[in-house]
Amino acid sequence: MSNIVYIAVSLDGYIATTDGGIDWLHDAPNPTESDYGWSEFIERIDALIMGRNTYEKVLTFGEWPYEKQVFVATSVLEDVPSHLEGKVQFIKGQPSDLIAEATRQGYQNLYIDGGITIQGFLAADLVDELILTHIPVLLGDGYPLFGKLADSLKFRHAKTEIYNDILVQSFYERQR
Ligand SMILES: NC(=O)c1ccc[n+]([C@@H]2O[C@H](COP(=O)([O-])OP(=O)(O)OC[C@H]3O[C@@H](n4cnc5c(N)ncnc54)[C@H](OP(=O)(O)O)[C@@H]3O)[C@@H](O)[C@H]2O)c1
Repeated sequence: MSNIVYIAVSLDGYIATTDGGIDWLHDAPNPTESDYGWSEFIERIDALIMGRNTYEKVLTFGEWPYEKQVFVATSVLEDVPSHLEGKVQFIKGQPSDLIAEATRQGYQNLYIDGGITIQGFLAADLVDELILTHIPVLLGDGYPLFGKLADSLKFRHAKTEIYNDILVQSFYERQR
């Protein structure tokens, strides 16, 4: 059972521009048509836990992109849109409560997504793996991936993949 973060981040640590934009993620040329390890990663996970802001961004994509169950952490949303029933559940509580609910439903390996959500899981020391894809841009400002922590958390580097000589994807495991 693992809680895994897989996220693209600017060199200065942002996951979106100040207006929530993520177009910069797709700026890098991809002549090899790589999926940047996405399909291999998504095979490993049973469900996603994502923050409301990320969920609302995903809704703007039009087509719902996930085949796995998605738990949306939110204290304000109540009714799942009818076209997402069976695919999305709204949940709230502390990160440990969110994990407990997903586990109760039989989901073991969880993909944790969204800046504030990830920060909450890290603050509770509930992230087992970080898969960070660095995009070579300095955004200067935006939605940060990381926030403050009461104590430092050590991670062990497992491997690094370089895609198209542009994107650097590093795998880290929590060293407890
Ligand atoms: N670069 C990438 O790969 C990447 C990946 C994912 C997202 N993004 C971008 O990041 C931005 C969104 O990130 P974000 O930092 O705003 O965070 P987020 O985690 O997507 O959303 C935060 C919101 O989720 C809810 N939430 C989080 N934890 C909760 C909990 N334990 N219980 C109840 N509700 C909880 C709260 O909303 P309520 O008000 O509903 O309580 C909170 O304000 C978007 O622009 C998205 O496109 C980028």
